[in-house]
Amino acid sequence: MLDVASKAFFQALSHSQNLKRLASRYGMRGRRSFARRFIAGETLEDAIAAVRQLEAQGLRHTLDHLGESVPTLDGSERCTREYLGLIEDVARAGVERNISLKLTQLGLDVDRATCTENLQRILAAADRHEFFVRIDMESSAYTESTLSIFETVWRLGSRRVGVVLQSCLYRTDADVERMNAIGARVRLVKGAYREPKSAAFQRKADVDAAYLEQAKRLLAEGTYPAIATHDETIIAEVKQFAAAQAIGPDRYEFQMLYGIRRDLQSSLVAEGYRVRVYVPFGREWFPYFMRRLGERPANVGFVLRALLSEK
Ligand code: FDA
Repeated sequence: MLDVASKAFFQALSHSQNLKRLASRYGMRGRRSFARRFIAGETLEDAIAAVRQLEAQGLRHTLDHLGESVPTLDGSERCTREYLGLIEDVARAGVERNISLKLTQLGLDVDRATCTENLQRILAAADRHEFFVRIDMESSAYTESTLSIFETVWRLGSRRVGVVLQSCLYRTDADVERMNAIGARVRLVKGAYREPKSAAFQRKADVDAAYLEQAKRLLAEGTYPAIATHDETIIAEVKQFAAAQAIGPDRYEFQMLYGIRRDLQSSLVAEGYRVRVYVPFGREWFPYFMRRLGERPANVGFVLRALLSEK
């Protein structure tokens, strides 16, 4: 299927070191900086400038310091400290306090206990500074460990934390129920990773149908769900369902990615809905950028036009 094939193609390219070197040279710098459309920049200063602009337009945001799995305990310690520093810096900057992170950045691939401790350190700082921390969901190999680490910190009393569920996975109906039962805040997404037939729907229509049903269950039975999609049809149905069930626009929010469907982001805000933009920044932007290209191969045209536009 085309959806799966293009995801697979771009995911494979995301491991290419040559392409990464080339993209790093041109992607973020100068007039040809095609990656800037989707990534706020390489530094926290870039990201703060971007979120100030969003705030001026009535948009909320969550900051993601880009990075993928770290292979060593030293790497996970460094990454945890970076997040602790980020919390201090964002608090000082006086912008909204909301971050997203990945557990493999905190050592999930190295040692689960250390990863859980690192998350607890970040959540303790988040409590002190009144942040909300969203744990992004990675590929299906991590779903169970991510949810069970989330449940551990939840049992220990953390409440400024939420998870992500992916509608493409067969297991997600059950996970929606599992998270609703404890009152956890869920961000619902379709899923950005290439997944095997044994774990996930391969047809877009099946993913979309699952998404809509799960969004309704989260709205009706969940806690302040985040409907994270750019899909206009789904957004229209969610608005209609919420209104019919008398679920006010203060009981959920829409979320979209930085640089994607900015028109829709603004029009929802103008209609009185809450919209949060996921703002990625940092030097490790290449895999994230490739996932966005894989979702919409038309973006390749956008990149090529940016590259060719410089005289
Ligand atoms: P779909 O792919 O059907 O797109 C619907 C429409 O949106 C398209 O027709 C197009 O107009 C527009 N669009 C979508 N993607 C685009 C792109 N890259 N460029 C330009 N236009 C595009 N995934 C995950 O696995 N784990 C996670 O933790 C997260 N976190 C996350 C946070 C937030 C706030 C969002 C919005 C998304 C995620 N995702 C994610 C990504 C998610 O799984 C999914 O890959 C993308 O949101 C694209 O799917 P849509 O729901 O937008 O639908």
